[in-house]
Amino acid sequence: MSTHMEQDKPNRECLLDKTPQGTLGKPLSRSEGLAKVTGTAPYAAEYPIADCLEGVLVTAPFAKGTIDSIDKEGCLAMEGVIAVIDDERLTSRPAQGTAGEAPVQKPRQIDYFGQPFALVVAETFEQARHAAKHLEFTFTADDLSQVPFDPEAAESERQEETRQGDLAHAMSDAKHAVDARITTAGHASAAMEPHAAIAQWDGSNLSVHASLQMLNYNISELADALGMDEDNIRLVSRYVGGGFGSKLGISQECLAASLASMALEKPVRVVLSRQQVFQTIMRRSETTQRLRLAAGDDGALSGFGHEGLVSNLPEESFAEPILQSSQFLYGGQNRLLGLDVARVHRMTAGSVRAPGEAVGMPALEVAMDMLAEESGVDPVELRLRNIPDAHPVEGTPFSSHKLAECLQQAADAFGWDAGPRKPRQRREGEWWVGTGMASAARVHNISKAKARVTLKPDGTALVETDMTDIGTGTYTILGQLAGEMLGLPRDKVLVELGDTRFPRGSGSGGSWGASSVGSAVYVACQGLRRELASRAGVNEDDVSLKDGRIANGPSLIDLLDGKDLSEEGFYEPGDIDDDFVAAGFGAYFAQVRVNRFTGETRVDRMTGAFGFGRVLNEKTARSQCQGGMVWSIGVALTEALHFDPQDGHLVNCDLAEYHVPVNRDVPELDVIMVEERDPAASPIQAKGIGELGMCGGAAAIANAIYNASGARVMDFPMTPDRVLAAMP
Ligand code: MOS
Repeated sequence: MSTHMEQDKPNRECLLDKTPQGTLGKPLSRSEGLAKVTGTAPYAAEYPIADCLEGVLVTAPFAKGTIDSIDKEGCLAMEGVIAVIDDERLTSRPAQGTAGEAPVQKPRQIDYFGQPFALVVAETFEQARHAAKHLEFTFTADDLSQVPFDPEAAESERQEETRQGDLAHAMSDAKHAVDARITTAGHASAAMEPHAAIAQWDGSNLSVHASLQMLNYNISELADALGMDEDNIRLVSRYVGGGFGSKLGISQECLAASLASMALEKPVRVVLSRQQVFQTIMRRSETTQRLRLAAGDDGALSGFGHEGLVSNLPEESFAEPILQSSQFLYGGQNRLLGLDVARVHRMTAGSVRAPGEAVGMPALEVAMDMLAEESGVDPVELRLRNIPDAHPVEGTPFSSHKLAECLQQAADAFGWDAGPRKPRQRREGEWWVGTGMASAARVHNISKAKARVTLKPDGTALVETDMTDIGTGTYTILGQLAGEMLGLPRDKVLVELGDTRFPRGSGSGGSWGASSVGSAVYVACQGLRRELASRAGVNEDDVSLKDGRIANGPSLIDLLDGKDLSEEGFYEPGDIDDDFVAAGFGAYFAQVRVNRFTGETRVDRMTGAFGFGRVLNEKTARSQCQGGMVWSIGVALTEALHFDPQDGHLVNCDLAEYHVPVNRDVPELDVIMVEERDPAASPIQAKGIGELGMCGGAAAIANAIYNASGARVMDFPMTPDRVLAAMP
């Protein structure tokens, strides 16, 4: 049986507020946690597959040109080498998000330094790596002095613009005005598990164990790339060691392993080295942003301007969407928002954790801090005064909006002093100490999703969907949701994910996983409850399920009578998108210390409050918020991709040179989850969490650096050299 729901109106009366089981929302530990920490959860490269050949990708040592010839014979003479795969499809870069259209790149054409163009397959990994390193080939590189590497100097085009009123006029008329240029660095996803795939071809069917976020979509991508039917492909990603956007789409390891396995009729494993992950997987674009804020005496905005320059390869459609939440976060009737894209030859720019707001919000929130100083209005108060009643241009109402509550609750918990603010008021030895704050905002995304829920004759339930758990807690929350709906304790629900043999989920991306596939489980369980009610002869609305039985009625085991009862839930967001602006909101407060001699910044403590609708699991949700705050520290202080201006290669392509925050960089992170139900966001009234945690946090740290030391740094990350240079 199956149940379909298309949400076209808010679900104000949610069953989940009435069910008596009490498992949903509880801070349960991850069900797969023990397997992960004891090393028994196999990641993509670890599946025990017999007689597996090893493939290593060969990458281009130049940024633009063509590969002319490859010396296969020489390579094949090396010890253990079985094949050199140089299939044209390896270098044909599909246009992002346009499955089915012609590739945007010609075969053997190289568009960025480090682009893979061949795969060497050998009996052992060491043999493959050695041979790949010594593969001889000829190439024609373009004149590097003519290749655009620098986004500021490259050609660009405007991709998006919103205009209302007259911003320039509002700026010149304003009592208080801020016009700031702020830059952010390019970022890497830096997931702990490198990209990996093991492909097995049996002559007509292809099975690939891979590390992917979106199996429901990846299967179409792979089918498309190989010219195969989806029905002949199976993808498996049961455990994923982080994705952060880098595994939204298939990458060359997946394609290369598949092509090699099909050519050799043997299983082939391809694992990217850490350097290859940095060089070939999508980057977050660096940005240059201009913020213009015009305000009256009381700090109320009359003008709001946010423009930015981001970059990507020629013909790529993705542009870091830095304006996403700026469209509706604050008022100001005179508005100009614009996004320009420069065409440069760096690896493809794409989604990295919280695409858009991760870097757009920090810039905006630094500008807001400057306006607070300029107008003499307390920074928290300034934000409260500028929360619009509805979308400032379209007039659309918010589905639910908790920014004010987040600001107030976080300020209280942090102990924010709303008195007059001046930099350099507190010194402890060689450290200046100060505080800062920022708002958080992130659009809520949701997608269609399917899940099957089966009640077993022994009174347990099984949830199946090809949804992935990328470390976020999906296994756990789907079990809690089904348990809550069916009146079963969490340990009576088995959740199976990450296999395209199961119904198509939503994939994990854009923080839509929990609300999308959670809604599919909810819909499936509604169908099961209906059937149970009819079997028990009671009214559907009166069914109360707890601990395996209908209240004052029969047990599930009796009702099942020895047979499975299965329901597929299919959730689709309807037109509700047009009726409401749905977003998660929050606030961050930070205390930092800045060394007066070295410019080093240490984060002392940080408080975040977030409103993201219903909390499905207090522990995994908190963990998501904390993860976002850790990212915020990285954006603020250390993370930056550095490209060589001469030949365009990425200079810092490992975790020793690309600095993510480590334990010593992260203080106690205090997280407040603000009570909220968002009936228009999803039938289960939940919104996305993961990315919200990093959408602005870097500005709280930047603003605290200013308050502590008087250094108003305009470039992220705020490394010691930059802080020192900006100190008064
Ligand atoms: Mo996300 S950057 O859509 O995994």
